[in-house]
Amino acid sequence: MEILRKMVLPYFDEGDGHGFDHVERVYNLALKISESENVDVDIVKSAALLHDICRKQGGETGQCHAIEGAKLTPEILRKINFPEDKIENVVHCVKVHRYSNGFVPETKEAKILQDADRLDAIGAIAITRIITHGIKHNMPIYNPKIKPSEGYSSKSETSINHFYEKILKLKPETFHTKSAQKIAKERYLFTQKFVNQIIDEWDGKK
Ligand SMILES: [Fe+2]
Ligand SMILES: [Fe+2]
Repeated sequence: MEILRKMVLPYFDEGDGHGFDHVERVYNLALKISESENVDVDIVKSAALLHDICRKQGGETGQCHAIEGAKLTPEILRKINFPEDKIENVVHCVKVHRYSNGFVPETKEAKILQDADRLDAIGAIAITRIITHGIKHNMPIYNPKIKPSEGYSSKSETSINHFYEKILKLKPETFHTKSAQKIAKERYLFTQKFVNQIIDEWDGKK
């Protein structure tokens, strides 16, 4: 896996919270989830390393990074002599990892990758990423007059609304595996507490 790790590194920018540090977390979370599942760990590992290789490109071109990444995956895996009969499953994992695309993960390995990727969208690091992103884009942290919309939205007006419109919609029971559900639950409660605390503190009356 070390060769593959080195090969995917140039596809990422550093330190924006969604660069290779995200890939490392997804890789480790996926491995942790795999411990309690009967899966091909080599498929999980390589899919985790490859899943976001086209994220930067997708951000620039507007193409879906999961679909583009899946197209690139076979040639990269063939360069490292990855077993031919496992390539299709890795391609599937990469293609369907993006929950919002609505593809259904059909293999255990794909379910684990999707779980691990979604876990990184919730919790302390996700909170930091959202606040930092908001500040960078001149988005207010909170405005009690701007109510969050009921539905899912990827374009929120305040960081707190982003939690309601996206992050807090990542309900623990929507994760595929039991171990991911457990981690998701802890992170969900932590995030919810953080959001409630900001709202409580906002006007200094509580
Ligand atoms: Fe992704
Ligand atoms: Fe990801």
